[in-house]
Amino acid sequence: MRIPDSFLDELVARSDIVDVVGGYVRLTKKGNNYWGLCPFHSEKTPSFSVSQQKQIYKCFGCGKGGGVVNFIMEAEQLPFVDAVRLLAQRANLEMPETGEAQGVREYRKRLLELNREAARYYHGVLRSPEGAAGLDYLRRRALSPATITRFGLGVAPEGWDNLISAMAERGYSKKELLDAGLVVKNQQGRLYDRFRNRVMFPIIDLRGEVIGFGGRVLDDSTPKYLNSPDTVIYNKSRNLFALNLARKSRQGHLILTEGYMDTISLHQAGFDCAVASLGTALTAEHAQLLSRYTGEVIICYDGDGAGVSAAQRAILLLEGAGLKIRVLQMRGAKDPDELIKTQGRAAFAQLLEQSENHIQYRLDRLKGNYDLTDDTQRVEFMKEAVGLVASLHSAVEREIYGARAAELAGVSAEAMAAEVKKELRRRIFQEKKKQERRDLAPAQQMQPRERSLRYENIRSARAEEGVIRLMLLSPDLFRQAAAQGLEPEQFSAPVLGKTYRLLRTRWEQGLQVQLAGLAGELSGEEMSHVASITDQPESAAHAVQALRDYIAVIQTEAQRRGGGDQIALLRAAQKKYKENKSYGGS
Ligand code: UTP
Ligand code: MN
Repeated sequence: MRIPDSFLDELVARSDIVDVVGGYVRLTKKGNNYWGLCPFHSEKTPSFSVSQQKQIYKCFGCGKGGGVVNFIMEAEQLPFVDAVRLLAQRANLEMPETGEAQGVREYRKRLLELNREAARYYHGVLRSPEGAAGLDYLRRRALSPATITRFGLGVAPEGWDNLISAMAERGYSKKELLDAGLVVKNQQGRLYDRFRNRVMFPIIDLRGEVIGFGGRVLDDSTPKYLNSPDTVIYNKSRNLFALNLARKSRQGHLILTEGYMDTISLHQAGFDCAVASLGTALTAEHAQLLSRYTGEVIICYDGDGAGVSAAQRAILLLEGAGLKIRVLQMRGAKDPDELIKTQGRAAFAQLLEQSENHIQYRLDRLKGNYDLTDDTQRVEFMKEAVGLVASLHSAVEREIYGARAAELAGVSAEAMAAEVKKELRRRIFQEKKKQERRDLAPAQQMQPRERSLRYENIRSARAEEGVIRLMLLSPDLFRQAAAQGLEPEQFSAPVLGKTYRLLRTRWEQGLQVQLAGLAGELSGEEMSHVASITDQPESAAHAVQALRDYIAVIQTEAQRRGGGDQIALLRAAQKKYKENKSYGGS
């Protein structure tokens, strides 16, 4: 059975490799990658690495590697289609084909319709006399009629079964109401509305579907917010409030808040790039999701202790997704909504302006962990601060934040700079040693582990590997490659030619150019090999020149091979002759 590529892409996008592998292997983050003990061979020190950025895993011990589907195939010993099925279940995606899947899809559609009807109903109540208190509440919270409409806000009336009867009238069953999480069953088995006497915030996904609700009380009673539970159509760790609107923003960044009201207030004040998590902590999946829509996230959490620790957790997750991060420090109000309400949008704009590189933020927090009047603790603080500063990429940043760290530690900027320099040297030295080990690896080691994949022409194969790395890095280079007339047939290594062709087809079809998507087409050995070649560094900065050079090598070698057919035949004949002779002679 053929799995459509677009489905595979969605599956891969929704199955973060770190999460999936994390279910089998205990992973620790070191540098850009996660490391753990390889599940495919026995070992005592970790040589199994997972790259979140490339969405591949690789074992330096046994050589196994690939994308998320390969991992499941290997770990669960499943054929491709079954591995895809297992991941699909995990990701709450229905498989494209079977009758059963068809049924599930229809059911999801039905629940989405129900949610939409419910949202309409709540919104209708808000405009009716029954919704007066709720509407009044939203007005007191300074929401304009336009904002209320824009976010589709509503009111769940008092009473136990208003929604149940309204939806029953529209033909929805109790089971459907239960499955959508709109209704709760008590111990006696009686059903009642989950949301009662609350203002309602529909949660809308990127396709514009209502997937769940949050509901707030109108007073100080608890719980303040109730949320739909996770259902077959609602997964809180994979969706963000208002991302459907924020992704269209022109701001160039996204603002991440903790609350529905914060996000709504920000939108109303013109900050149309705000989103919020859904009453749960941020997850790695959220970070991945954000990284699909922006390169920079500004964390804008509450100023209290809980907000600060949530921000620190969020920084790590967002960093893991390769995002640029700033942190807004809430001052003069407990949250963005309150700030805008009491001090106006300009005050928020100013805080936004002042929001810091997360290094400064982390320095400040770090300071909070130590008693800097105590010498021993000061030394500890220094050590950590030096590590932080040394991890910055630009020299200017290192100087600025180094000086700030020095000030905090009460040492001279020079002393700090010297420590940072030492640390940097140490890191560069380590990096160099690693690179040398790779460069000095004898040609033998450049060969694929799998014998049947052995390179005939190492020079060309290295260039072919480089081409594949570049294409994964920036797929638009396929255009340049086409202009230079590069064809898969010119590749000397069949596995690399095949990979190139598959990736190019994906690019032409507008699919993700990624290795994980080739799980159905490359064998396990081929995949392991290709995953291992993506490991070498390739710089995006000089990609155009590098690609030109690689292609020149490949085409020269191909020409030589083509023109040298006769020679090759002769050589083969010679070899055979020699072999025969040596056998015959003994
Ligand atoms: P906050 O307690 O910070 O509330 O919760 P808030 O956003 O400032 O709300 P207002 O201004 O009092 O209306 C932040 C988020 O945490 C979730 C909700 O998603 C809320 O937006 N939360 C909070 C719950 O899910 N349940 C709760 O009981 C409280
Ligand atoms: Mn608030």
